[in-house]
Amino acid sequence: MSEPLLTLEGVHTHIAQYHILQGVNLDVPKGGVTMLLGRNGAGKTTTLRTIMGLWQASQGKITFDGQDITRLSTPDISRLGISIVPENMGIFSGLTVEENMRLAVLSGKIADDRLDWIFSAFPPLRTFWKYPAGNLSGGQKQMLSVARAVAEERRLYLIDEPSKGLAPAIVSSLAKAIKDLKRDGATVLLVEQNFSFAKALGDTVSVMDDGHIVHSGSMAELAQDQNLQTRFMGLSMETA
Ligand SMILES: Nc1ncnc2c1ncn2[C@@H]1O[C@H](COP(=O)(O)OP(=O)(O)OP(=O)(O)O)[C@@H](O)[C@H]1O
Ligand SMILES: [Mg+2]
Repeated sequence: MSEPLLTLEGVHTHIAQYHILQGVNLDVPKGGVTMLLGRNGAGKTTTLRTIMGLWQASQGKITFDGQDITRLSTPDISRLGISIVPENMGIFSGLTVEENMRLAVLSGKIADDRLDWIFSAFPPLRTFWKYPAGNLSGGQKQMLSVARAVAEERRLYLIDEPSKGLAPAIVSSLAKAIKDLKRDGATVLLVEQNFSFAKALGDTVSVMDDGHIVHSGSMAELAQDQNLQTRFMGLSMETA
């Protein structure tokens, strides 16, 4: 396995009086897809938000490509080449699809070939390009949310439950888009409840419970090992 692009060492996050992350140790290898699994409330979203600087770690260290990013602001973390697809989609309802996409790029302009690639993965975004994002359906908003995070090339994509609410055909497009990102050398940390989707895409996997990582290994090993699945899938999801 290649060296990690991102490392969390003993990361704790408090939200108000609550101690949510309780010493998270996580390696995300460069150039692969790492799945982050775990039951509802395990701390997956909090982990992604802490990496992105949307929550501040109260203890521990987050390293991206050799640089300590633990105390950096979200805009600085973004400038280093990290983007997030937030769990609650994070789109601007009053702006058009086009305006939402333009705001997502640091360079101010989406490259034509990048836009063609996005439209081929998510055709409704082309159809509704000039429409207010607030008028999109739930699944279409989810597509826009993913499209914003991939609107220009980044080194690390943090993606929180992208398949939620999407029709099967679009889930396949999404899986292909994530494979394309990986083929182009990007690294992805992906939270997912759909195990078949996770199994098809993941190179490595970490399972969280109660604010800790309780298992880390290869996805192939977890997919093949019934004992491991029983031990950890029970924690992470109802069906395998
Ligand atoms: N803003 C907040 N204020 C207080 N507690 C919070 C807040 N956000 C999250 N928590 C708590 O932190 C814990 C972890 O939440 P988190 O959203 O990280 O879980 P998750 O693993 O993403 O779950 P899910 O699979 O349901 O999305 C939960 O117990 C949740 O109630
Ligand atoms: Mg979550």
